[in-house]
Amino acid sequence: MRQAEGNTGPGGGAAGGTAAAPAVLVDSSDYRRAIARFATGVTIVTTQVDGLDVAMTVNSLTSVSLNPLLVLFCADKSARFHGSVLRTGLWAVSVLGVGDESASRWFATRGRPDEARLGDYPTSPGPQTGLPLLDSGIAFLECRTWATHDAGDHTVVIGEVLAVDSPAERQPPLLYFESRYGVLRD
Ligand SMILES: Cc1cc2nc3c(=O)[nH]c(=O)nc-3n(C[C@H](O)[C@H](O)[C@H](O)COP(=O)(O)O)c2cc1C
Repeated sequence: MRQAEGNTGPGGGAAGGTAAAPAVLVDSSDYRRAIARFATGVTIVTTQVDGLDVAMTVNSLTSVSLNPLLVLFCADKSARFHGSVLRTGLWAVSVLGVGDESASRWFATRGRPDEARLGDYPTSPGPQTGLPLLDSGIAFLECRTWATHDAGDHTVVIGEVLAVDSPAERQPPLLYFESRYGVLRD
C-alpha cells in the first residue's frame, strides 16, 4: 500500500471541512431512491485469504486516475469481504455480462457457506496475482491496494491497477438500476 489511511474533508477532519455545514436533512431512504437512479455495471471482486477464495458483488467500482492507474470500490464494513480485502491488499475485478445475473445474486448473498464462496462459477487465475477471475466476465482488472479511506459505514479501497484484460469477444454488460438488473438497449 503506497499511502496511509486518511481522510480530508468533512468527517475526516484533516482539511476542507465547511464550518457551517447544515444539519443532515436528507432521509436515508430518499437518498437510496435517488442514488439508485445512477445506473451502474456490476462486478465481482475477489481476493484470497488464508488460502480461501472470497468474493463479493460490487457496483461501486469507479475509475480514479490514469497516472498512476487507480480504480476504487467501496466495501461495506459489515461484509465479510471487507476484512478479507483489507488484510490481503490484492484484489481482482471481473466485470459481468448479461448472462451473469445469477452470479451477481450469489455473490451478494450474505451468509453463503465459506467453503463454497465461489459457488459453481468457473474461474481462472489472473496472470499477475493468481486471484480468481470469472471465466464469463467481460473485462478484468487485477489490483494492489494503494490507499484506503474510512468513509462512514464503508471503506473506500483504492487500487493500483497491475493487469487488465478486455477480451474482444464479449456479451453485453449487465446493468443495475433501481435495485433491478437490466440490459443495454442499442
Ligand atoms: C448489484 C449489487 C452491488 C453491490 N455493490 C456493493 C458494493 O459496491 N460494496 C459493498 O460493500 N457491497 C455491495 N453489495 C452488497 C454485497 O455484495 C453483499 O453485502 C455481500 O453479500 C457481502 O458478502 P460477504 O459478507 O460474504 O462479504 C452489492 C450488492 C448488489 C446486489
